[in-house]
Amino acid sequence: MKIILAPMEGVVDALMRDMLTRIGGYDLCITEFIRVVDQKLPARVFTRLCPELLTGGKTYAGTPVRVQLLGQDPHWLAENAVRAVELGSPGVDLNFGCPAKTVNKSRGGAVLLKETNQLYQIVKAVRDAVPAQYPVSAKIRLGYDDTSLTLDNATAIAAAGASMLTVHARTKSDGYRPPAYWPWIAKIKQHVTIPLIANGEIWQASDAALCQQQSACSDIMLGRGALAMPNLAQSIRTGEPAMPWPKVLELLMQYSEFEMCGDKSQYYSNRIKQWFSYLKLQYPQAAELFSQLRVLRKSSEILATLQQALREETRPKQVRPV
Ligand SMILES: Cc1cc2nc3c(=O)[nH]c(=O)nc-3n(C[C@H](O)[C@H](O)[C@H](O)COP(=O)(O)O)c2cc1C
Repeated sequence: MKIILAPMEGVVDALMRDMLTRIGGYDLCITEFIRVVDQKLPARVFTRLCPELLTGGKTYAGTPVRVQLLGQDPHWLAENAVRAVELGSPGVDLNFGCPAKTVNKSRGGAVLLKETNQLYQIVKAVRDAVPAQYPVSAKIRLGYDDTSLTLDNATAIAAAGASMLTVHARTKSDGYRPPAYWPWIAKIKQHVTIPLIANGEIWQASDAALCQQQSACSDIMLGRGALAMPNLAQSIRTGEPAMPWPKVLELLMQYSEFEMCGDKSQYYSNRIKQWFSYLKLQYPQAAELFSQLRVLRKSSEILATLQQALREETRPKQVRPV
């Protein structure tokens, strides 16, 4: 079984990848997408989103991090894919699932699922350009409005030479609404021979088992569930329970300290609030704390609130005399 940490723009940055892969259980991470339009991007664009390029394309814990590109132009995607691997990315992933209006309007992301031939042209151009030892993978949804092209799209991507295909088992119109239609992945598997990765709605070890059974796929990708339960990958592998809340608070502190002094410090308050929106699905304590954090704007206020929560959590509980 391979477990991959999903690309999540605005949430899973290098720091989050570092923390989650140290907790363990991941075989691969995919970066937030790099938008490619009509030029070869400078190296700094790649290293800003994927600073792991400067340390051998791996997180501190040694988990490989693959750069993801999003775009519609085969030539420019190929040029930038080559640049990504030259800079140290262990392969390239292509995003054909992004539902964002701005991206779809310029023919990028999920809207390409309406254009099977364009998918083929993109994957083929990138595969032909990137040296054979580097994997070229793709990530799709089941379709844009419906599933009428699911099998055509998957077979086109495989025929173009993709090394692996992740399937987020919902259409663009489904958004992020449950369920994820895992049996669709089993259907795709009957038509392609490249490795498939099942993705969508895995929040607990039991979901992973059901997903694997229904998708006929042993390899999975974890998105929001990985943020809701920071040890989800390990829990799936070993059956360990969810990380205790005080440990999660320590992680939050660690994240805050690094994020606030890093070059993305202006995004800190949004990022931590977004992380909380997932944590509260797993931890009732997070929901309580989030109601305090939600209204705070300044990073220093958020940090102080977290510090206070950690102090309360770790203070020895008073034993009542009998
Ligand atoms: C906030 C957010 C950002 C995302 N960013 C990306 C992205 O940059 N590239 C991508 O391929 N998918 C992106 N996704 C989709 C996820 O990788 C994943 O396919 C989706 O969340 C379903 O998996 P889950 O149910 O385990 O969360 C994003 C999802 C969310 C919620």
